[in-house]
Amino acid sequence: MKKLLELISEEMQAAFEAAGYGEAEAGSQLGRVTLSNRPDLCEYQCNGAMAGAKKFKKAPIMIAGEVAEKLQGSQVFSQAEAVMPGFLNLRLSEEFLRDYLRDMRQAEKFGLDEPTKPRKIIIDYGGANVAKPLHVGHLRSAVIGESIKRICRYAGHEVIGDAHLGDWGLQMGLVIVGIKERQPDLVYFDDSYEGEYPKEAPFTISELEEIYPASSSKSKEDPEYKAQAMEATYKLQNGVRGYRALWRHMMNVSVADLKKVYSSLNVEFDLWKGESDVRDLIPEMVQYMKDGGYAYISEGALVVDVKEETDTKEVPPCMILKSDGASLYNTSDLATILERMRLYHPDQIIYLTDKRQDLYFDQVFRCARKTKLVEPETQLKWIGFGTVNGIDGKPFKTRDGGVMRLETLIQETKDEMLRKIREGREMSEEEAKAVADMVAISALLYGDLSNQASKDYIFDMDRFTSFEGDTGPYILYTIVRIKSILSKYAEQGGSLEDSEGLELLAAPAEAKGFAQKQLMMQLAGFNAMMESASEETAPHRVCAFIYDLANAFNHFYHETKILAEEDEAQKRSLIALLLLTRDVLETCIHVLGFEAPDKM
Ligand code: ARG
Repeated sequence: MKKLLELISEEMQAAFEAAGYGEAEAGSQLGRVTLSNRPDLCEYQCNGAMAGAKKFKKAPIMIAGEVAEKLQGSQVFSQAEAVMPGFLNLRLSEEFLRDYLRDMRQAEKFGLDEPTKPRKIIIDYGGANVAKPLHVGHLRSAVIGESIKRICRYAGHEVIGDAHLGDWGLQMGLVIVGIKERQPDLVYFDDSYEGEYPKEAPFTISELEEIYPASSSKSKEDPEYKAQAMEATYKLQNGVRGYRALWRHMMNVSVADLKKVYSSLNVEFDLWKGESDVRDLIPEMVQYMKDGGYAYISEGALVVDVKEETDTKEVPPCMILKSDGASLYNTSDLATILERMRLYHPDQIIYLTDKRQDLYFDQVFRCARKTKLVEPETQLKWIGFGTVNGIDGKPFKTRDGGVMRLETLIQETKDEMLRKIREGREMSEEEAKAVADMVAISALLYGDLSNQASKDYIFDMDRFTSFEGDTGPYILYTIVRIKSILSKYAEQGGSLEDSEGLELLAAPAEAKGFAQKQLMMQLAGFNAMMESASEETAPHRVCAFIYDLANAFNHFYHETKILAEEDEAQKRSLIALLLLTRDVLETCIHVLGFEAPDKM
């Protein structure tokens, strides 16, 4: 379905053509209409006459006047007025707007067209490290990645989400030596053992999470200990049985826990692959890079040059193997690209990491292109996100200055929400808790997603959990308000089925008042918004849209009698508008990754 602005621009262009300022004469289309930047004067505007003035050697106001003349009696505009120095101020015909919304209601996905070229997209947005707890830094990658996945899927692309676990580096060796120190008699450390290893892991998740930080800080002070960890990593990577068995336990225990935390944020991965999955591809890839003449030895290490003539900053070579033959973070990202191309052949791979990995991804992408791991048309896109700060403007920390665990942050938000929900509401404790959990997730997700990804933001618990302002709870509150009017209407015997004449939106009943029209115009922008959110991988656009939509709805609600409306046909038409508003809002929050309760 065409976008509203497209349709009205076409009408405008036709008027320019009719007035003799057509594309052929002007050399370009002058009829482009945009939203008005003076909503007090008009709804839309066209500045084409200003652009045409030079070409036609005529005062813009004269051109605008002639075009406005042609628009009298238009089905699209109820008002088209030429104003000094040559703007066209426009108002939409209410009939036209109602027809548009009726078509939108009946179309698939509210009139969002399928993409002309659907893409197969892999999104790499987990990056969690096995045996290390998720912290607040992992929030953004998970939340933004999940939303981009849902938006692109909704828009009609095929999307695969991959957790891409950090499960193969030095951290695994550090945990192994940490375990060995605590429980040296475990059978995993007995080189002569040939039997089956136990099914039960010799640690719980909390023990595991304690071991890593302890072991990591010890290795920084004690070079001997660090050497042991490196050796353990080496043994693990080279297939020593006991180490592999222990590693499998770490994976199981840790992944089960990660799934729990991710799913509490409604984050779901299609693939739970990790760095370890491509370990066997590395030798082959290294050989290929050498044979192709891409990789060479520099100071003992194997590198690929990735600098380009147009560089304004220094881009160092991409290191593939260290001088001791060990692989790096690079190496597994490159081998993962190789694997993804072989297994899925994506048109695009999107990565989410914090924005400090800028240069890193530049190197990796250049290297992948230069060595032809991908095809020339494969798109590689990196989205670097900003830091989550505390109200002091510094990176978010716990009260005692430590790293905030993601689970703690989620729990604190839920607790705060429960406190607010309990205030002045009649609800059973159980219901209050369930509602608070849902609303808390909206607070967290919306608080993050409403910012442009690349910007830092301040995690302000008080603001995020408020029912007023640009917040998740405000959006949910609006949806719940609509739901409650609708259920009252149904209780009074009204039908919520579209077949019962609820398409009355298109009936000639006058759209009442300013607020209703604003709401209708806002709804009509859905398809254009969703298309750009998907093309620009920008969840914040969806947030901005639903914030405006919720505001438009609440104005309308305060200005309009809905259930008290006496004209039955008019009332049904208002209900139809409510149904459409509810469905559009729910579709939008779903792509952001959260849902609304029925009551709150
Ligand atoms: N595990 C990495 C870390 O914690 C993040 C991985 C990001 N994704 C990637 N494909 N490199 O730093």
